Amino acid sequence: MRKPIIAGNWKMNKSRDEALQFIYNVNMKVPSSEFVDSVVCAQSPILRDLVKRQGDSLRVGAQTMHYLDNGAFTGEISAPLLESIGVTYVVLGHSERRAYYNETDTDVNKKIHQAFRYGLTPILCVGESLEIREAGTTDPYIKDQVVAALKGLGTEQIKALVIAYEPIWAIGTGKTATSEMANDTIRAIRGVVKGLYNDETAEAMRIQYGGSVKPANIDELLSMSDIDGALVGGASLDAESFLALVNAAVKK
Ligand code: 13P
Repeated sequence: MRKPIIAGNWKMNKSRDEALQFIYNVNMKVPSSEFVDSVVCAQSPILRDLVKRQGDSLRVGAQTMHYLDNGAFTGEISAPLLESIGVTYVVLGHSERRAYYNETDTDVNKKIHQAFRYGLTPILCVGESLEIREAGTTDPYIKDQVVAALKGLGTEQIKALVIAYEPIWAIGTGKTATSEMANDTIRAIRGVVKGLYNDETAEAMRIQYGGSVKPANIDELLSMSDIDGALVGGASLDAESFLALVNAAVKK
């Protein structure tokens, strides 16, 4: 049995006051982490504030991170700093980072290794463009992304890792992949991990779906065999909507 995980990716949204109000509103209402892992990934300057106020069942994540400990990398964020302020998750390889900041598969692989060095749980994002989906080459494309990202990781790390399958054409567009489509690609990802490692490892690893997830479609997505949760942008910004999503996951 894989425990579901719902992560809100707030992207570049929310003031400090709005973020603190959100935590205040959801903290006592988030279901126990015995049943679902609930995470919010916020902008870096407020991560410490959120960690200080997180309740027993809410965790805080960063949205990106560098793969080196320190150095002359203006504007970057280091894993040791994230660890020292109590952050526990980090989103890596989001399609927006890949598209706007030239993050490559090799970078993503180094970042995953670095996250594990500092006890952070990586949420590795993979996903195809509309062009790739329409050309019918989604599976090989995603396979390449997964193989490159996981290079050199051990089985215990794979079991701890979270993968988020986010078709780029479904992000922020209101177009959700059908639950069958999402499940098929997620099963294919699990199949890739089976091939690289073994059945037990692949079955233990959690894979989320992301792309226009909202309270109205979460039940159907989570009813699928291989979808273990969601990485949610827009619908995670509102406290009531976030609570509806995490509560839906309890039923999984
Ligand atoms: P939306 O839920 O707004 O489509 O965003 C998905 C996403 O990119 C989460 O990382």
